[in-house]
Amino acid sequence: MTRGLLASSPIIPVVVIEDADDGPTLAAALLRGGIRCAEITLRTPAALDAIRAIAAVTDPVFTVGAGTVLNVDQLDAAVAAGAAFVVSPGLDPAVVERARDRGIEVLPGAATATEIQHARRLGVRTVKFFPADRLGGLATISALAAPFSDMAFVPSGGVSAANIGDYLAHASVPAVSGSWMVARSLVVGRDFDAIERLSREAMGLATAARH
Ligand code: 3PG
Repeated sequence: MTRGLLASSPIIPVVVIEDADDGPTLAAALLRGGIRCAEITLRTPAALDAIRAIAAVTDPVFTVGAGTVLNVDQLDAAVAAGAAFVVSPGLDPAVVERARDRGIEVLPGAATATEIQHARRLGVRTVKFFPADRLGGLATISALAAPFSDMAFVPSGGVSAANIGDYLAHASVPAVSGSWMVARSLVVGRDFDAIERLSREAMGLATAARH
């Protein structure tokens, strides 16, 4: 994944959506809160239709991508639906190469030194560090960033308003991803005001961490 998208969107909301019709309303709430992208995880039957709906109607500054992309067939389906980037929890060379062939951004997971070396060999310089909290969080990212000084890490898993500032203050962390501003209960409950409020709070913390 190029760092351009992440520079403009230091937070990637990780969305699990049950009703595709909620997609555009959800994206609009994120935008009002200052967040300009969303990762719609392919964990529900509604996910591809939600990507299609968001890609069709949202503001051009909003970027929709697909998450939990586990194979090339899912990647192709996501691109056909309008996804501009794909995220994987782990590293699959076939997914990375297909994304490159299709001309879309890819953020694969890599959580160990060996996986990071493998990602580097594939030309990847930004990886998802998942599940960040279970893997030692910022202390582990700092340790990995020492030998891999040209790599960027996007922590995911257990990121929240309580720790986003610490993560984003690290030079090797261009962005974080997480579900706290789009918790399943908020999405299913259509509490778009809360999604907007939590997004605004998160962006405020992200901006503060950069100064
Ligand atoms: C995921 O892919 O589920 C992300 O890592 C989100 O984790 P979170 O729900 O702990 O934010």
